[in-house]
Amino acid sequence: VSSQLKTMELSVDLDRLMSRHHALAKIGATGRGGVCRPALGPEDTAARRLLLDWARARSFSCAIDPIGNLFVRRNGGEPGWPPVSTGSHLDTQIPGGNYDGIYGVIAGLEVLETLEDHDISTRRPIELVVWNNEEGARFSPTTMGSSVYSGATSIEAALESCDREGISVRKALAESLSKLGNLDQHAFGAPCHAYIEAHIEQGPVLEAEGLSIGVVTGIQGISQFQTTITGEAAHAGTTPRRRRRDALLAAMSQISGLAKLAEDPGDKLRFTIGKLTVLPGTPNTVPSEVAFTIDLRHPQREALDAFRNSIERICGTETLSCKSKVNEFLNSPPIDFDARVRSVIRDAAIGRGASFMELASGATHDAKYMAKLCPTSMIFIPCLSGISHNEAEMAAPSDMECGANVLLDAIKVLADETASPIAQVPA
Ligand code: GLV
Ligand code: MN
Ligand code: MN
Repeated sequence: VSSQLKTMELSVDLDRLMSRHHALAKIGATGRGGVCRPALGPEDTAARRLLLDWARARSFSCAIDPIGNLFVRRNGGEPGWPPVSTGSHLDTQIPGGNYDGIYGVIAGLEVLETLEDHDISTRRPIELVVWNNEEGARFSPTTMGSSVYSGATSIEAALESCDREGISVRKALAESLSKLGNLDQHAFGAPCHAYIEAHIEQGPVLEAEGLSIGVVTGIQGISQFQTTITGEAAHAGTTPRRRRRDALLAAMSQISGLAKLAEDPGDKLRFTIGKLTVLPGTPNTVPSEVAFTIDLRHPQREALDAFRNSIERICGTETLSCKSKVNEFLNSPPIDFDARVRSVIRDAAIGRGASFMELASGATHDAKYMAKLCPTSMIFIPCLSGISHNEAEMAAPSDMECGANVLLDAIKVLADETASPIAQVPA
């Protein structure tokens, strides 16, 4: 009974959680309520540095892997046992909000620190991971760090990825590392007992249902393409229509073809052209080159594949006398999270008296790749009007506290387990 009471009393420190939230919100603040921390840029590096300062102040060990994922570890009574891991990311959209990714990192640190505050030892180590370049806003693909960590993307391909200015991940990472101080080396795909990532929902469901916690059942499939259309630069005032090879008009024709294909009465398919560049980009020159990205999502693999298979037909062939090529740079099918980890999160929510539901994630997360390595699930908290990838992103402190306490309880259960959770799931 007394140990049960002790567990009940153990809660995260909301003041500390919020002070960390506000400290991170200053790094790369835009002045409009959001932040701009492109992966591996000076602001992202400063945010990582601040996190390491907090971790080192508690004597947690700090490590990095060759793609720039950071690991903060609180040791367990059995230091050789695979850890229970948690985490998310500190890079943001350009610009982005103060919760996407950041919440999962500070909630995870809160778990390590709360156990430390109360001198509670767990059998297994607990590891907080800060994944590199989750957003994919500066470098493609999205969820780069976890993708390489899990073996889905090669480290060489990731290091060669370049931003708009032609700066590679390799170069930006070396620069960032020089500012982080001494770090141990962490291996890719190290054995892990279980992984739980806390995150804002980034959608409207929990708020609409008036619930505090989402137990995440899985993540829908995502596929991303890069299309490049090549026409010919020409004078806007003199060139007759029949002699033009206008790359932008060709892109418009392709995009309207894609949009028509994306019409889905059930509103399950997500189709986005999020990045479009026009060259040379002057008012009085016919566009010579247009590049655009396609982001596709669907909960069912077959439906996603059907759309994927139509992309080449629309974007891979000559359009309005312009050459066109398309290349898929991310294809990640839908996944289901582990039933046992989900039940541990559910029990933790019940134990806290928190209202909850099960729901699938529309956004992608590093948990998708961790699910390939170990039993995994996620905890969602509501966010205001479901707004995300927007500077106005917002979550209530009470929900942040509740989510962190559920994370704490769930991790504590898993970190004291001896057997693999998989072994406990009936076939
Ligand atoms: C992550 O930010 C995503 O693209 O879902
Ligand atoms: Mn995120
Ligand atoms: Mn995001």
